[in-house]
Amino acid sequence: MKKIVILISGRGSNMEAVVRACARDGWPARICAIISNRPDAAGLGFAAANGIESKVVDHRQFDGRESFDAALAGEIDRFEPDLVVLAGFMRVLTDAFVTKYAGRMLNIHPSLLPCFPGLRTHQQALDAGVRVHGASVHFVTPALDHGPIVAQGAVPVIAGDDAAALAARVLKVEHEIYPRAVRWFIEGRLTVEGERVALTPSEPQWLFADVAGEGA
Ligand code: GRF
Repeated sequence: MKKIVILISGRGSNMEAVVRACARDGWPARICAIISNRPDAAGLGFAAANGIESKVVDHRQFDGRESFDAALAGEIDRFEPDLVVLAGFMRVLTDAFVTKYAGRMLNIHPSLLPCFPGLRTHQQALDAGVRVHGASVHFVTPALDHGPIVAQGAVPVIAGDDAAALAARVLKVEHEIYPRAVRWFIEGRLTVEGERVALTPSEPQWLFADVAGEGA
């Protein structure tokens, strides 16, 4: 049984998607803990309602990134996880922290990386005039929103979209690709070769949104 710790900062819908898929599909894995850097993260309610241990490590109680990351690592390590899943965890992590979990920490970013790292990705996509946008699951490396890509989901940009409409369309594919990517890791099917992630046996590491009826 593999052990997973999920880090959140807010709503936690990606966390929910992973937790539900793990239970529904009977993964050989257990979600040991949900850790939030915000005491008011809505996702903590889901953890409580589902009997998952949760913990808050409030970044505002620390005087720097190093001390916060050290405390966070201390809490994570209590559960001896095989995998750390960042699910809307809105903190820039120190190199030391990232290096400690190298090869066993995944993140989801709401863009087709390497386009649009950072914040406000949906507005960035609209401003750039791209016709296709999406989300990426990647191994975490010290460079922000960068690292070997495990899976990507693509959605069209539809005339009249604003950032909220586009975000909602992207979120649907996030909830598909993140559980898939986590399951592949749990099943020991991912190998990182430089910047590429191989999946064995192979299956599509991409998803194109089904937007029939959305005016695409
Ligand atoms: C998602 O769009 C995720 O890709 C980004 O922040 C958002 C978090 O949403 N990093 P949720 O907390 O998983 O609902």
